[in-house]
Amino acid sequence: MKVKGFLKDVGGASRVTKARLAAFAQASSTPVRTDPIGDVAREWHPGKLDMVVTEIRDASKTAKTVRFEKVGGGKLPPFYAGQFMVVDFPMGDSLISRPYSISSAPWQARQEKGFVEITVRRSRGDGFICDHINDNVKVGDTFRCLIGCGQFYYEPLRDARHVVALAGGVGITPFASMAREVAHGTLDMDLTILYGSVASDDITLRDELAALEGEHVHIVHVLSGDEPDWQGERGFLTAELIRKYSAPDTTYFICGPQAMYRFLREELKKLDIPQRRVRFEVFGQAKDITVFPGYPQECKDKTYQLTVRRGIHEDVIPARATESLVVALERAGIRIETGCRSGECGFCRTKVLSGSVYICPENDGRRAADKDFGYVHACAAYPTSDVVIKIPIE
Ligand code: FES
Repeated sequence: MKVKGFLKDVGGASRVTKARLAAFAQASSTPVRTDPIGDVAREWHPGKLDMVVTEIRDASKTAKTVRFEKVGGGKLPPFYAGQFMVVDFPMGDSLISRPYSISSAPWQARQEKGFVEITVRRSRGDGFICDHINDNVKVGDTFRCLIGCGQFYYEPLRDARHVVALAGGVGITPFASMAREVAHGTLDMDLTILYGSVASDDITLRDELAALEGEHVHIVHVLSGDEPDWQGERGFLTAELIRKYSAPDTTYFICGPQAMYRFLREELKKLDIPQRRVRFEVFGQAKDITVFPGYPQECKDKTYQLTVRRGIHEDVIPARATESLVVALERAGIRIETGCRSGECGFCRTKVLSGSVYICPENDGRRAADKDFGYVHACAAYPTSDVVIKIPIE
């Protein structure tokens, strides 16, 4: 009986195959002109877009907001308030990518003449691209941009309706996007932003945020500098202050400088908040990798040999122990795709063929299988010996 059933199946399959071949023979060689599914996919995930700078304005005395529109006009891909975009900057023969939180709202990108904005603060000597944007970028410049990256956004199925955003310095930018979306009525939550700054005359986006305040958006400025006339909250974003502005069920979103992350982790512990109610934006590249637990201090002053294989090409370049593999590659003019530069997105995924690296624990976003098979995220990996890596060909 089994053999008979099997032969019947084979016969049926062969009849289907013949019918299909006949249909193929009669089909037109002209490709199908309509591809509605593909059209939607391309609209939602267009990859990198050529964008032109159409406006630059002051966001504070040390920060600028830069507006981008699509070259040739048209709508932009959707994104969530809180996500970032990656901008490619041509630097000599090289191309350097940097992630910036989008400070405009998703609804502003969905308009016919849609736009996205980033707000970038001048660096304190350690961010030459931030200074480049503040000093050199002008209206009419074009850049390749990838819009809508990262996991730092409000999700009503996961997050409490009341959100307390803890922002420091230019870490206000994802919350500016959320506040615009809430004020516009296209994001349904109650948002209280506790915004820490040092000086009242250098608060990023101060006037624009004030214009968004209303029933569902509250901005609380907290000043750490010594200003006798300041009327608002003072000091740092302490557990006591956070408790004062929290509802019984609150989700906390945190974005700011790395020192603030370390401080807030301790303050939040005092409040006994469940882990699922706390969302940190990616940490950024470690300012000083040697302070992280387990960093091999004996390596910190060394420069190692980094052998880079791309297809049949092989380069040997120097790599400082305190700089990530991505920085070593960029310094040598070798292009590697990057997105978050915080170990999260995996764009810079790299195979380590030999040698050892230290992985920044704050930025270890590798999948378990990648760990087993020797892949690292090059933006979060620091050489601790001579290393041989294999990167994709650009
Ligand atoms: S750039 Fe995102 S993981 Fe390295």
